[in-house]
Amino acid sequence: MRIFVTGVAGFIGSQLAEALLDEGHDVVGVDAFTPYYDRDAKDANLADLRDRPGFRFIEADLRDTDLDALLDGVDVVYHQAAQPGVRLSWSDGFATYDSCNVLATQRLLEATRQAAVDRFVYASSSSVYGNADSYPVIETDLPRPHSPYGVTKLAAEHLCGVYAANCGLSTVALRYFTVYGPRQRPDMAFHRLIEGALDQQAFPLYGDGSHIRDFTYVGDVVRANVLAGTADVAPGTVVNVCAGGSTVLRNVIDAVANAVGSPVPIEQHAEQPGDVQRTGGSNDAAQRLLGWKPQTNLADGIAAQVAWHRSRRPSN
Ligand SMILES: NC(=O)c1ccc[n+]([C@@H]2O[C@H](COP(=O)([O-])OP(=O)(O)OC[C@H]3O[C@@H](n4cnc5c(N)ncnc54)[C@H](O)[C@@H]3O)[C@@H](O)[C@H]2O)c1
Repeated sequence: MRIFVTGVAGFIGSQLAEALLDEGHDVVGVDAFTPYYDRDAKDANLADLRDRPGFRFIEADLRDTDLDALLDGVDVVYHQAAQPGVRLSWSDGFATYDSCNVLATQRLLEATRQAAVDRFVYASSSSVYGNADSYPVIETDLPRPHSPYGVTKLAAEHLCGVYAANCGLSTVALRYFTVYGPRQRPDMAFHRLIEGALDQQAFPLYGDGSHIRDFTYVGDVVRANVLAGTADVAPGTVVNVCAGGSTVLRNVIDAVANAVGSPVPIEQHAEQPGDVQRTGGSNDAAQRLLGWKPQTNLADGIAAQVAWHRSRRPSN
């Protein structure tokens, strides 16, 4: 198949593109190198991809590029591109979230509808749930985002539903729950914890460390995407992609210290607006609809991420 991956220079998109090439597909990847984090990290994510047969990279911004030409002959679209992160989505920062997450998705859906694409897989987020009344959350729970970021991820998910209902576009939204593993974005907790332990630099802990998260390994998220590309599901399907665990952040700090072999120095900060107290999902629908189950436990996943951090250090 010919596959289109947006956000291909990112943490998840780059590893998804590699998996799709491994499966024998041709991949066209797009990324705008938005400045949320260092371009060097994104170039490194792309390094192995660039020379692989069957891969073509296009530097373009989904907000203004001519998408019709890019989608010619494409069978499946994986839309990973977005402005991620909760903390910058307040105040003036919201304009970027609005344009990268909502407008860009609408433009891509519109172009996809014209292009006779078989499947549109959208990278949604557990942030659409906000603080739920009970856990684990299931896909039919009323989404009530707790941050402007979550609002934009939900708006784009609803756009998928609108194009599915009105145009028959075969959309699948995968709600990822806190993804970790090699290439994790530098703003994310595991990344900063591991770097903090390796360099003995303070990790800024927002709140008291009692937050609970359903951490999901990147390889498992990639596999859910591959399955969602061809699964026999109805247009407008929404599926949680979560390991199903409930890990307290304080315990992650200990697990990282164990894996690295040195403690993580902590610098205490106040709770941040937009951070939910807990995420935790049911993956029953993913098992039933996609035939997907998480395969990587937290200890193995952390070990893989620590190995990646060590591998990119100058002494290696
Ligand atoms: N990482 C997580 O834990 C997590 C959790 C839930 C949902 N998600 C979603 O998964 C997707 C991938 O996240 P990630 O962690 O890999 O982020 P990432 O920032 O590493 O990757 C996103 C990529 O999209 C690109 N991009 C952004 N706006 C663009 C635009 N307008 N045009 C072209 N390219 C653009 C960026 O340059 C970046 O390389 C996002 O949609 C995110 O909202 C991630």
